[in-house]
Formats: sequence, C-alpha cells, structure tokens
Amino acid sequence: MPSPWHREHLSGGLLDARRWLNRPLARRRTPSRAPNLAVHDDIQRVLLTEEQILEGIERVASEITGAYRGTKFTVVSILKGSCVFASDLIRRIPVPLELAFVSASSYREGTESGDLDLNFFPTDKEIRGRRLILVDDILDTGRTMNALVKAFKARGASDVRSCVFLDKPERRAVDYRADFRCFEVEDLFVVGYGLDYAGEYRNLPYVGALRPEIYDTTVAEGDQSTVAEGDQRVQKAQTTKS
Ligand code: IMP
Ligand code: MG
Repeated sequence: MPSPWHREHLSGGLLDARRWLNRPLARRRTPSRAPNLAVHDDIQRVLLTEEQILEGIERVASEITGAYRGTKFTVVSILKGSCVFASDLIRRIPVPLELAFVSASSYREGTESGDLDLNFFPTDKEIRGRRLILVDDILDTGRTMNALVKAFKARGASDVRSCVFLDKPERRAVDYRADFRCFEVEDLFVVGYGLDYAGEYRNLPYVGALRPEIYDTTVAEGDQSTVAEGDQRVQKAQTTKS
C-alpha cells in the first residue's frame, strides 16, 4: 500500500507539486540508487515523449520566426534548466539571432521558491536597445520570469518577451503569462529535458514523473506497483500572446 503521506498527496498516482514543494525538509531526500542503474529506471511515468517535445518546439519555433523575422533579437537562455530546450529551439529558428545566458536559481534541492539568485548577467552592450526573448524550462509560480523581465527592462532592453517549455498555470503566484509556450502541465513535479530533481535527471530526453521511492523514504520498494497510473496530464498548449 502507498504510505499514509502518499494516500493524502498523490493525485491520480502522481505527486502533486504544491504538496511536494511545501513538504517539510526532513521528509525529502536526494536521489539514491545503485550507481550502475540508468536514470530511466527512476521514472514512473513518461509525460512527454521525445517526439511530442520536438513537435511542440517546432510549432513555437515557427511562431517566433514569424514574430521576429526581419528584426535583430537575442534569445536569453535561463540556466541551468532551459539549456536543453533553448538549444533545440534556436536550431529550428532559421533567421539571424544572438544567444545569451543568465542564471536564476529559485529552488534549492527541490524546495519552495525563495529569493532569486541572479548570475552571469549579460553585459549592458548585449541588453541595451535589444529585443530579448527570455527562455525558461518551466513557468511555475512565475516569480523567476517576472523578476527577470523587470531586470532586463531596467537595464535598457527595448522589448522583453518570454518563451517557456512547460507552463504550470495552477501554481502561479504572480500575474504573469508567457508570450510563447510549448506545453501546459498539471500541478505535478516533473523531471527531464533540462528539468532537475536535486540536480539530477536533466539528461533525460523526455519529461517524466519520478518513482515515489526516489524522493520519499517512507515508500518501500514494493509500493510502486500499487500507485495507479494517472490520466493524461499534459496538454498541448495554444501559444498565449500578450
Ligand atoms: P518559478 O519562479 O516558481 O516560476 O520557478 C521556475 C523554476 O522552478 C524553474 O525554472 C525550475 O527550475 C523550477 N521548477 C518548478 N517546477 C518544477 C518541476 O516540476 N520540476 C523541476 N523544476 C521545477
Ligand atoms: Mg530552472
């Protein structure tokens, strides 16, 4: 049987992100597995396959191409989570662009969103008077993107828009909508394709949900078979332009 904590917090067999992120630190743990096992063995369910991901990226890449063709613009990849998405995205935008990076950490070891820690900020020359598209792996509470858009505007960018791989609208804490997005996901903690849990799983080529025993010491090995499969939790999102 699932642990009492899981009975209360699993929705459709998958962990509710809000419950997980609000959980006391003592109840979380870092991934532990035999070193010879593949990261794939820790995934309970694949939410987005590689094929689905590429379809979504191609759709958004052509929207960006249409919107920015004929103008000078820079894609700013928010590290570390968006590096996989950004590299696939820019290779499907066949018009001139520049690439920059910024690092923004809001989660520490899978905990709730805290104060933002900004690093590797592009130089003034790369920002002033430029049109920027900030690219992130996931729009969750929206705090990271909201703060970064303001920071880039304050440094003199002429236009700042955003593009996210995943969007979790249910988790929003600030009023923010992405200009371009690939997929909307439910309130679940997901990993892969750049998204991490405690620094790992970014190298999965798909997006998935972890097996409960990876993050919860109270779940015994045999319990995984009792966790029911959830409904289809990922929907293709229409791009929202604002
Ligand atoms: P926000 O400021 O709450 O929107 O934070 C966005 C950041 O939180 C993302 O760039 C991720 O690093 C992290 N994050 C939010 N949800 C997830 C998730 O389900 N899996 C992995 N990382 C997540
Ligand atoms: Mg991130």
